[in-house]
Amino acid sequence: MTQTMKLITSPVFIPEALAVKEGQIASLFPHQQPLSLEIGCGVGDFIVQLAKRHPQRNFIVTDIFNQGCLRTCTRVDEAGLTNIRVMRCEARFLMTHLIRAGELDAIYVNCPDPWPKKRHRKRRLVNHEFLQLALHTLKPGGEFHFSTDFVDYGVSVGELLDAEPGFANLQSTPYSHELGDYPISKYMRRFLDRGQPIYYSRFERRADYQLKTTPEIQRGFRSRWVGRDPK
Ligand SMILES: C[S@@+](CC[C@H](N)C(=O)[O-])C[C@H]1O[C@@H](n2cnc3c(N)ncnc32)[C@H](O)[C@@H]1O
Repeated sequence: MTQTMKLITSPVFIPEALAVKEGQIASLFPHQQPLSLEIGCGVGDFIVQLAKRHPQRNFIVTDIFNQGCLRTCTRVDEAGLTNIRVMRCEARFLMTHLIRAGELDAIYVNCPDPWPKKRHRKRRLVNHEFLQLALHTLKPGGEFHFSTDFVDYGVSVGELLDAEPGFANLQSTPYSHELGDYPISKYMRRFLDRGQPIYYSRFERRADYQLKTTPEIQRGFRSRWVGRDPK
């Protein structure tokens, strides 16, 4: 799919994602504070709520769609938040090349594209390989949050996380429909309003866990795209 590109001039947007070098993300913020990542920020409603609550944390958010980045930047600017930076970058590229090992306090993935057809499920972002990247970039005790409206995705990611020795469950079950004070994203709101439950998993990286090898970027769907327009 080719996107209609709109120029983003917001000061919170990092226009040249490819020019950022590994380890430089922290220097994009005015204050050196713990860093968290949101993947697939959509229109930015989730991150604005979270960043308002946590002014002592920094948030790097990414989406591959230009207009989502634009709307997120507009929301961040309107809220006057200085602890968010927006990049238009493929998530696995960002995690492999720009974020240092153990740099992240938390990762948030909300309602990722569900790819409901069986033959397309291999396109889903969150799988075993992705969780290795998450373990690589999270600091010990760093949190991984995942939400989806899609039953099959929610159940399988909950089970994958539960079976992953590097993660410890912060809830009593692999996934829950109880969201507590977790901010509600645009997609979550859409499904909650229809009476559909959200599948929410919250795990932390075990402090004593050692990754055997440094994960490499998957040669899968979308990961070939690192900053050019997706076709
Ligand atoms: C279904 S929308 C959900 C948006 C938002 N998280 C919400 O809950 O309202 C999924 C978003 O993930 C983005 N996305 C999909 N694959 C991605 C990837 N590999 N890297 C970064 N963003 C991605 C899409 O562009 C889209 O904006």
